[in-house]
Amino acid sequence: MTQMVPFVPDDAPFSKEQRAWLNGFLAGMFSSAPVPEIAAKPAPLKIAVFYGSQTGTAEGLARKLTKELKAKGFDATLTSLEAYTSAALALERYAIFLVSTYGQGEAPDSAQFFYEQVCVEHFPRYENLQYAVFALGDRHYETFCKFGIDLDNKLLSLGATRILDRVECDVETDGPFARWKDELFKRLDAISKGGQQPAAATPEMPAMPPSVAIASPALVREAPPATVTRDNPYLAPLKEKLPLTRDGSTKTTLHLTWSIAESGIRYEPGDACGIIPQNDPALVEDILNLLRFSGEEQVEIQKAGQVSLKEALRHHLVITKLNRKLIERYATMGQCKRLLGLLAPEQQTHLEQYVYERGLIDILEECPGVIHNPVDLVTMLPRLTPRLYSISSSPSVHAGEVHTTIAVVRYRSLNRERGGVCSTLVADRVPVGERVPIYIQPNKKFRLPENPDTPVIMIGPGTGIAPFRAFLHERRARGAKGKNWLFFGDRNAANDFLYREELESMVADGHLTRLDTAFSRDQEHKIYVQDRMLENAPLFWSWLQDGASIYVCGDASRMAKDVDAALHTIVSRQGNIDHDGAKEYVRQLKDDHRYHRDVY
Ligand SMILES: Cc1cc2nc3c(=O)[nH]c(=O)nc-3n(C[C@H](O)[C@H](O)[C@H](O)COP(=O)(O)OP(=O)(O)OC[C@H]3O[C@@H](n4cnc5c(N)ncnc54)[C@H](O)[C@@H]3O)c2cc1C
Ligand SMILES: NC(=O)c1ccc[n+]([C@@H]2O[C@H](COP(=O)([O-])OP(=O)(O)OC[C@H]3O[C@@H](n4cnc5c(N)ncnc54)[C@H](OP(=O)(O)O)[C@@H]3O)[C@@H](O)[C@H]2O)c1
Ligand SMILES: Cc1cc2nc3c(=O)[nH]c(=O)nc-3n(C[C@H](O)[C@H](O)[C@H](O)COP(=O)(O)O)c2cc1C
Repeated sequence: MTQMVPFVPDDAPFSKEQRAWLNGFLAGMFSSAPVPEIAAKPAPLKIAVFYGSQTGTAEGLARKLTKELKAKGFDATLTSLEAYTSAALALERYAIFLVSTYGQGEAPDSAQFFYEQVCVEHFPRYENLQYAVFALGDRHYETFCKFGIDLDNKLLSLGATRILDRVECDVETDGPFARWKDELFKRLDAISKGGQQPAAATPEMPAMPPSVAIASPALVREAPPATVTRDNPYLAPLKEKLPLTRDGSTKTTLHLTWSIAESGIRYEPGDACGIIPQNDPALVEDILNLLRFSGEEQVEIQKAGQVSLKEALRHHLVITKLNRKLIERYATMGQCKRLLGLLAPEQQTHLEQYVYERGLIDILEECPGVIHNPVDLVTMLPRLTPRLYSISSSPSVHAGEVHTTIAVVRYRSLNRERGGVCSTLVADRVPVGERVPIYIQPNKKFRLPENPDTPVIMIGPGTGIAPFRAFLHERRARGAKGKNWLFFGDRNAANDFLYREELESMVADGHLTRLDTAFSRDQEHKIYVQDRMLENAPLFWSWLQDGASIYVCGDASRMAKDVDAALHTIVSRQGNIDHDGAKEYVRQLKDDHRYHRDVY
C-alpha cells in the first residue's frame, strides 16, 4: 500500500515559502523520493547574537560580532535578552551569547527575566540549538563570570550543543574577544560548509512570520560609531568642584562639572559618564622603592605599547586591589608559605578577608624578594578600568557641561590610609581647569517616559540622587506636566542632604510634587527610603494605578534589593494579591518599561 504523503493546506498560518519548505520536508520524510531541491540550496547560516549587558561592554562586543558576521555573509541579528523569551530561543538553530555578571554573581537586570524563564520552564528543550557563550566579568569578584557560566551550563543541560567552549573574560576584553571570535568564525565556517551540521540534514527553515514566531521586540539596529568612546576619550576640563556634604559629615560627596562645550559629545538624561582614572603617584613611588626599580624600565602594555614601568603602574594597571589569581601567581613564584596556605579550599573565607583588606603594596611587604623582573610584575596585575558616574545634569539645561555626583571612597585598613582610585583622584589631585579623559556610557534602559504626562517615582539614596537631578531639570525644560515624586536618603539631614536647596525650591514651586527623605543616622534606629515607601503605600499604589514609572538608582548590594522587596509588599498589600500575584505585577511593570534600575 502506498503511504499517503501529508501536506500543509493553503490556509495554514504559514507563508508561501514556509509552506513549500514544510511540504518538501514532509515529502522527504514520507516518500523514498530524494529530498526536494530546495533542501540542497545553501542558505546563509542564520545566527542570533544575544547580549545581556548592564553598562554596555557586552553590548558593544555583540554589535562588533554581528557586524563582522554579516560582513562574512552570515544572516546575523543582534538582540538584547531583555524581553526575549525562552520559547523564542527554541526556534533558533545558532545562538551566540555575550553576557556580563552583576551584583554578586547575578545576571544583568535586562537578562534576569529571560534566565528565570530558562530555569523555571522545563520546556522547550533546546536539542536543535547550537550555541556559544562569551562571559564577561571581573576577577576581583569571587563570583567571576557566574551568570555566563550558569547560562552555559543551563543550555547544555537543556539539550543544546556548544559550538565551542565558553570563554570567561576579565575586564580587559580585547585580546580574549579577538581570539574567541577567530575560533568562533572557524567553527561557523565549518558548519556552513556542512562539516558540523546536525545528523539529520534538515534544510534551513525560512524565518517564521511575526504572526507565528514569538517576536523579539528588543531587536537592535547597528548604532553609528560615536567619535568619543572609552578607547578614544575626550580630555574634559574640570570647570567646577563643590562639596555637597558639609564639614561635619562622616563622608565627602562632590559635585563636579566637566566642560564638554568643545567636544561634540551628546548625552541623554540617564546616561553615565566614564572617567579614565590614574593611580596615586605616591603609592606608585612606594611600590617602585620597595621593589628597587627606578620606574624607567620599559614594559609592554597591550594597546599602549612600550611604556615605562612608572607609567604602567600609574595609568594602566590595578595596584590597589588583590585577587585570587594574582595571589596564586605571586605565592607560587615566591613559594610564600602563608599565601600558599590561604589558597587551600577550606581557607576561602580567610582569603576573602585577606584580599579585602590589602593592595599590592601589602603583599610585597609581607612576602618580599619575589619580583626581580618588571615584566613579572606587569603580567600579574589586572588592567585598570574606567569608572562610571551617573550624569546629574540635563543636556537641555546645562548646555556644554556634564555634571557628576561623586562620593569619595576613603578607608583605613592595616594601619594604612587608603582611597578609591578614581574618587580620590578627582577629589585630591584634579584642580579646577585640569583635564581628565572622559566618555559617555549610554544607558538606554534608564530613560524618562516618552509621554511627558506620565508620573515618575524616583528612589535614589546617596549618590543615587544623581540621575534624578538630571531627570527633574530635563522634565522642567521639556515642560513635562507629569507628577514627580522623589525618595532621597542619606546619613544625616544636617550634613548629607545633597542638592537640598535645589530640591526644596522645586518642591516650593510645585515641580517636585513630593519629596520624601530618610536620614538613616538622625535617630537611634535606621530609617531608609524603603521605610518611607511603605509609610506612603496607599499613595504609592495610587500613583502606580495612574501609570507612574518607577526608577531606582544607587547601591546594588542591599538598597536596590530592599527597595524591590518594599515594592512587592506595597503591590501585595494595596492590590490585595498574594506573593506570586505581586511578583507577576512587578514583572509586568518591567515588561511595560515602567520599572527601571541603575544600580551599582
Ligand atoms: C553605572 C554606574 C553608575 C555609577 N554612578 C555613581 C555615581 O553617580 N556616584 C558615585 O559616587 N559612584 C557611582 N558609581 C560607582 C563608581 O563607578 C565607582 O565604583 C566608585 O566611585 C568607586 O571608585 P573608586 O575608583 O574611587 O574606588 P575603587 O578604587 O574602585 O575602590 C572601591 C573599592 O574599595 C574597596 N573598599 C571601599 N571601602 C572599603 C573598606 N572600608 N575596607 C576595605 N575595602 C574597601 C571596595 O573593594 C570597593 O569596591 C557608579 C557605578 C556604576 C557601575
Ligand atoms: N557597590 C559599590 O561599590 C558601592 C555602591 C554604593 C556606594 N558605594 C560607596 O559608598 C560610599 C557612599 O555612597 P553613597 O553616598 O552613594 O551612599 P551611602 O552613604 O552608602 O548610603 C546612602 C544612604 O543609604 C542608606 N542605606 C544603607 N543601607 C541601605 C539599604 N539597605 N536600603 C536603603 N538605604 C540604605 C545609608 O544608611 P547607613 O549608611 O546609615 O546604613 C545612607 O543613609 C561611597 O564611597 C561609594 O563609592 C559603593
Ligand atoms: C556593581 C558591579 C557588580 C559586578 N559584579 C560582578 C560579579 O559578581 N562577577 C563578575 O565576574 N563581574 C562582576 N562585575 C564586573 C562586570 O561583569 C564587568 O565589568 C563586565 O565587563 C561588565 O560588562 P557590561 O558593561 O556589559 O555589563 C560587576 C561590575 C559592577 C559595576
